[in-house]
Amino acid sequence: MPPVLSALWLLLAAAFLAALLLQVRRGGPGPRPGLFQDLIRYGKTKSGCGQRPAWLRLLYLPKRWFSHFYILSVVWNGFLLLLLIQALFLARPFPIWLQDLLSALGGASQNQDVGDKHLSALLVLMLLWLHSFRRLIECLCISVFSSGVIHIVQYCFALGYYIVIGLTVLCQVPANVSNGKDLFMQICWYHILGIMMYIWASVHQHRCHVILANLRKSKSGKVVNLNHSIPFGDWFERVSCPHYFAELLIYVSLAITFGFQNLTWWLVVMFVLFNQALAAVLCQEFYVNKFSCYPTHRKAFIPFLF
Ligand SMILES: NC(=O)c1ccc[n+]([C@@H]2O[C@H](COP(=O)([O-])OP(=O)(O)OC[C@H]3O[C@@H](n4cnc5c(N)ncnc54)[C@H](OP(=O)(O)O)[C@@H]3O)[C@@H](O)[C@H]2O)c1
Repeated sequence: MPPVLSALWLLLAAAFLAALLLQVRRGGPGPRPGLFQDLIRYGKTKSGCGQRPAWLRLLYLPKRWFSHFYILSVVWNGFLLLLLIQALFLARPFPIWLQDLLSALGGASQNQDVGDKHLSALLVLMLLWLHSFRRLIECLCISVFSSGVIHIVQYCFALGYYIVIGLTVLCQVPANVSNGKDLFMQICWYHILGIMMYIWASVHQHRCHVILANLRKSKSGKVVNLNHSIPFGDWFERVSCPHYFAELLIYVSLAITFGFQNLTWWLVVMFVLFNQALAAVLCQEFYVNKFSCYPTHRKAFIPFLF
C-alpha cells in the first residue's frame, strides 16, 4: 500500500466527510455566504450563495471549463497508459523521473511480486481513460452549460485530482513490469465483474447527462433555454443526482477490478463517496427550495438510503 498516496486520499476523504457533516448539520432553508460555502458550491448550487463582493467574483471561472479536467485527464492518463503498455509488452521501464515520482509517492518496489496486479492496473487505467474520454465528449457535444461558475480553488483541485488519480494506479505496479506475454492468463472473475459493473454504471451516467441536456433542448436538438428544471426518467425517478451515484459506482467497479483488496483505491472510493454526497445534498437543497412541486420521495444521492 503506497503510504503517501493512501494518506493523501484518507485526508481528502476525511475533509469532504467533515464538510458534508457540517453542511447536513447546518441544514436550514438557505445557504449562508462565506468562504466555506464558496468552496463547496459550484454551478447551480452557487447561485444561492449570496451576492459576493466583486473582487471575490474575480476568482470564479466558467463551469463550462469542466472540459479542461477531461482534456488534461485524457492527455496525462493516456500518456501514463502508453508507458504502462510499453513496460508490460515491450519490457521498456518507466522513465527515471516517473520511477522517482512513483517511489516518492510510495509506489510498489521493483522487486515486489505483485502477481495479477499487472492486469488489474492496466484495466483500471484503461477504464479511467475511457471514462475521461466519454466525459470529454459529453462536455463538448452533449451537455448544455449555463453561466454557472466554479471557484478557482475548485478548478485547480480538479486538475490536480486527474493528475494524481493516474499516478495512484501506476503506484500499484512495480516500475520494471515486463510480463506482457502471459498477462491475459491473469484474467480473474473480478476483472469481468468490475468491467460489467463499469459498463452498467457508465451507460446510466451517460443517460442522465443526456436527460439533463435535453431539458434545455427542443425535440430537434436546438438549445432553447438555459434554465434549471426538474429532470425525469432513468435513475432520476429515484434520486436527485443519479449521475453522482453512477460516478460512485464507476469507482467501486474499479475497486472490484483491482480485486477488492486494494486499500488505496478504496480510499479513493471514500473520497468520491463523500465529495459526490456533498454535491448531491446541495443539489437536493437547490431543487427543494426552487420547486414547490419537487418529488418528495426522491433521495439526494443513493436510492432508498440517502
Ligand atoms: N469524480 C469526482 O470527484 C467528480 C467531481 C465532480 C463531478 N463529477 C462528475 O462530473 C459530472 C458532472 O458533474 P456536475 O457537478 O457538473 O453535474 P451537474 O451540476 O448536474 O451539471 C451537469 C450538466 O447538466 C446541467 N444541469 C444540471 N442540473 C440541471 C437542471 N436541473 N436543468 C437543466 N440542466 C441542468 C449543467 O448545467 P449548468 O450547471 O451549467 O447550469 C451541466 O451542463 C457528474 O457525472 C459527476 O459525477 C465527478
